[in-house]
Amino acid sequence: MARILVLNGPNLNLLGTREPAVYGSDTLADIVGRLERLATARGAAVAALQSNAEHELVAAVQASKSTGTDAIILNAGAFTHTSIALRDALAGIGVPFYEVHISNVYARESFRHHSYLSAIAAGVIVGFGAIGYELALDAALRKLGR
Ligand code: DQA
Repeated sequence: MARILVLNGPNLNLLGTREPAVYGSDTLADIVGRLERLATARGAAVAALQSNAEHELVAAVQASKSTGTDAIILNAGAFTHTSIALRDALAGIGVPFYEVHISNVYARESFRHHSYLSAIAAGVIVGFGAIGYELALDAALRKLGR
């Protein structure tokens, strides 16, 4: 069974009420629930974690190797634009990851245009709203041959 880890970074716990014009009205629980149902229908399993703390995200990435995670779907939020530590963790484990951004970061402030993660991602999905997570799940499972 394919195991997919869905990791969300800072402030993504606020989805549903956070700047709905930018991020939509789905809560993170709505998004994770859909991913769980889609994964189950395809014989895969989803584990999900959200944290506002960089060290917890780094720890989750490091742990993913020993728990047999096949792919990571990652919306690192603002850490995308700042975190060399998260990039190093991802580079160090060899588990493919798919970077997701709900908003089109390239249509926003210039500080959102650079990602420390994209160059080592298996794929990047930007600006499709909450369904970006589902697109990433589909891509990850297809790549894994499921
Ligand atoms: C985001 C874009 C980031 O720039 C921002 O800091 C977020 C959310 C997105 O999903 O569009 O927290 O990753």
